[in-house]
Amino acid sequence: MRYETVKEDIVKILFTEKQIIDRITTIGKEITNEYKGRCPLVIGILKGAATYIELLAKKIDTHIEIDYMTFSSYGNSTKSSGNVKMIMDLDENIEGRDIIIVEDILDTGNTLYNLMHILKERNPKSIEVFTFLRKKDALQKPITPKWIGFDIENEFVVGYGFDFNQKYRNLDFIGVLNPKVYS
Ligand code: IMP
Ligand code: MG
Repeated sequence: MRYETVKEDIVKILFTEKQIIDRITTIGKEITNEYKGRCPLVIGILKGAATYIELLAKKIDTHIEIDYMTFSSYGNSTKSSGNVKMIMDLDENIEGRDIIIVEDILDTGNTLYNLMHILKERNPKSIEVFTFLRKKDALQKPITPKWIGFDIENEFVVGYGFDFNQKYRNLDFIGVLNPKVYS
């Protein structure tokens, strides 16, 4: 879906499709260099990270495996609740594996903090985090992603996988949602 179709709902465009793909291509090369010959398990956190795991995986030029987990934290509002619940677990056993977690956005960090706790108890060899966006000022947990697409302000964004009440994921850019939509 294009900007013109929902222009009243969007305050500004932050990243175009080209900017998004260029950035992921760069990070894909870095991951390729780092993990050549190690076959990491790349874990996507659904639903938001679906877009990013698809894009990133194709830019990694060595063998990887892919698995998915689903958590719920937001319900249907724009504020993180801090209550994080696992809804779908991995298929793979991760003991002794190199893990790369793919997240769409790091906001308070509650989701990722809980997830990393769960995964560490399963004794992987290593765990690193890729997040496409990070709201630096919103972070409440000690999480340092190894790869960050872009740092953004503490604003609610939609598009290119990011939703508000499950809508706007199919915008072909990332933009700031007009607060009038949710207030
Ligand atoms: P955290 O647990 O507070 O870090 O929240 C992480 C999750 O909240 C993300 O995976 C998103 O699903 C959602 N989220 C946080 N900020 C935004 C936003 O600006 N737009 C859309 N979803 C968001
Ligand atoms: Mg999410």
